[in-house]
Amino acid sequence: MRLSMVLIAGAIAAMSVAGSAQAGDKLLVGFSQIGSESGWRAAETKISKIEADKRGIDLRISDAQQKEENQIKAVRSFIAQGVDAILIAPVVATGWETVLKEAKDAKIPVMLLDRGIDVKDDSLYLTVVRSDAVYEGQAAGDWLAKATNGKCNVVELQGTVGASVAIDRKKGFDKVVGEHPQMKIVRTQSGDFTRAKGKEVMESFIKAEGGNKNICAMYAHNDDMAIGGIQAIKEAGLKPGKDILVVSIDGVPDIFKAMGEGEANATVELTPNMAGPAFDALIAFKTKGVVPPKWIKTVTKLYEPDSARAEYERRKDLY
Ligand code: AHR
Repeated sequence: MRLSMVLIAGAIAAMSVAGSAQAGDKLLVGFSQIGSESGWRAAETKISKIEADKRGIDLRISDAQQKEENQIKAVRSFIAQGVDAILIAPVVATGWETVLKEAKDAKIPVMLLDRGIDVKDDSLYLTVVRSDAVYEGQAAGDWLAKATNGKCNVVELQGTVGASVAIDRKKGFDKVVGEHPQMKIVRTQSGDFTRAKGKEVMESFIKAEGGNKNICAMYAHNDDMAIGGIQAIKEAGLKPGKDILVVSIDGVPDIFKAMGEGEANATVELTPNMAGPAFDALIAFKTKGVVPPKWIKTVTKLYEPDSARAEYERRKDLY
């Protein structure tokens, strides 16, 4: 019954996918969001609501507060509610088989947002909307290699341990380091994708290295940790962006502000609009049976300070 209503409503939506709310029954979608660890994450949540509204989708968001066990509970609750689809931004890559099998048995399609998972059977999810995070790490590394003529001691602030994006951003950056004999990662630790932990970890790096004598650059797996790290560099009496170069990933307004002020040097953009492409794929799947590609890849772009002020203005109300 719900499906036939969805088919009618979806057909209307398909005629004006980006248009106003559709008539009839709404698609009901549950979204297990990781939490609110970063500015990027807050933007993704906000944009998901906007994109759902545009398509007349009833979106229920559950905040997992960084815990996989809460995500698993949320998915089970969405299954019990009989939702039409489930979105998951998986905090870590492993441990998903059982609950995804439950969703599959209930015939509820699962779509992953912004992070990947390790499962043997990829029929457990319909598609994943995410960037190529190995390439992001590589883009950050290539920029740094070019800026330093391949001679640089780097401290690295890693993302959440076990998160696919942390694993991949490290892998991509390490590849570049491996290609430059005089580039080295001298310290690396997780800052869990938060400003507070980024600052804490960077403080400990500076202390351990006795200032910036042995540190040429800070590579952070996200902008929020970079912003925390910038604060630590300043509090140590050093100039971020000059005494220690700063390169990170996300493209949030605050990093553009820092770049405009000469305190950061480059960021690799990750779009926070993961839900829009997921909803489009879901509507096409439900209404026309179109099976989406297994990986809907978002575009990656590196920004430098020349466009920082304009990019800050363009983004500040969006995030
Ligand atoms: O999975 C995407 C990453 O998660 C973002 O780069 C980071 O800011 C967030 O916490």
